[in-house]
Amino acid sequence: MYLTRLALTDFRNFARLDLALPRKNLLLTGRNAQGKTSLLEAVYLLSTLTSFQTNAIWQMVNFIASREALAVARLVGEYERSDGLHKLELRLILESNGAAGRSVRREALLDGLKKPLHQIVGHFKAVLFVPQMTQVVEGSPDLRRRYLDLALAQVYPAYTQTLSEYRQTLTQRNALLKMLAERRGDLKQLDYWDELLTDKGARLMHWRIQALRELERQAVQVQHLLTEGDEVLRLDYQPAYEPLPRPAGQMGLPLDAPIDRSGLTAAEIAAGFRAALQKRRPEEIARGVTTIGPHRDDFRLLVNGIDLGHYGSRGQIRTALLALKMAEVNWIQERTDEWPVILLDEVLSELDSARRARLLDYLLARGQVFITSTDAAVFPPNFRARVAAWVVENGILSPQNEEVSP
Ligand SMILES: Nc1ncnc2c1ncn2[C@@H]1O[C@H](COP(=O)(O)OP(=O)(O)O)[C@@H](O)[C@H]1O
Ligand SMILES: [Mg+2]
Repeated sequence: MYLTRLALTDFRNFARLDLALPRKNLLLTGRNAQGKTSLLEAVYLLSTLTSFQTNAIWQMVNFIASREALAVARLVGEYERSDGLHKLELRLILESNGAAGRSVRREALLDGLKKPLHQIVGHFKAVLFVPQMTQVVEGSPDLRRRYLDLALAQVYPAYTQTLSEYRQTLTQRNALLKMLAERRGDLKQLDYWDELLTDKGARLMHWRIQALRELERQAVQVQHLLTEGDEVLRLDYQPAYEPLPRPAGQMGLPLDAPIDRSGLTAAEIAAGFRAALQKRRPEEIARGVTTIGPHRDDFRLLVNGIDLGHYGSRGQIRTALLALKMAEVNWIQERTDEWPVILLDEVLSELDSARRARLLDYLLARGQVFITSTDAAVFPPNFRARVAAWVVENGILSPQNEEVSP
């Protein structure tokens, strides 16, 4: 997949940008706070239609423009997929609602036609790595769920829709549980919501199980390459509802024993999930909340059996996250037959020179890469010879003249 044009209007510090992109890798350099990360963020947004951070969409609208009652950030991407050329436009519309404050709304058009967002998510595919994403490893479970959801949305068009149906069902079920806790509401309705929740929830879990397994297989290889075999990375799914029947007498499983849930069908997961909800009914009614299900899932990253979220060094966490991101690139390619555009922000700064060189070689063998740095000198000449280099300054991009070596 190649991005061939990017146009931005009132997106962060890009008041106006219209850029024809070469069918090549792109090196973006520039001082701090000039717009390098924002540019990658814009490209990523075309893929996910949402921020990788929670609920930060309004912050992306240019803050000078957003002083008006109505402000629109507009992103247009033209890209080449194996099925031809496409154009995607995303609008972030910030409106004031009188006393209620402001709200942000999104609209998306694919090839000129307005469509529901879930139908467009993942049409343009990209994988983003920014340093603050180490929060995925160190932060709270909702960040890991979000990471997983965004990755799955790139591969399975139905995932986003199912996720949003699951969330709606969860809200309805929780509302009913609260009423039942107050001795109002109809207990029979709970069966109906349980049926829906477990059906949607099991499909999500089934996708997550397969995805983590496939991502792990890829991540192991990348991690091996980056660390020259020193580190073995594992992705350990920790579902809030365990779909595997607990084997008798295996309470004390060692932390690093892999659990294989990949043989389960969505229907089996749903049946077990339903039974588990039945069992918890009195407790859930008393608490007025759904206590198990994919909305409470987590996964851990283990390196050589050690949980990185708790014991990882900064360098280890960064390398593992990078391996996970590269795994995602390979996984998307394997599943969809398209190389996603790879967006790497300041990725080289904390890698030693051997890891740096191995990563760059690896990247050159993939699809289009956008890579940023404050310092072009960190890239070896053989890499710089094969990319288009641009300088970002105050929201403006200009081609960099390759310095002539003396
Ligand atoms: N909504 C916004 N409107 C205008 N400028 C913004 C907005 N959000 C961030 N900025 C500014 O955009 C600039 C570029 O930020 P960033 O992309 O992180 O730079 P870089 O990655 O080059 O260091 C920063 O000065 C930041 O304050
Ligand atoms: Mg930056």
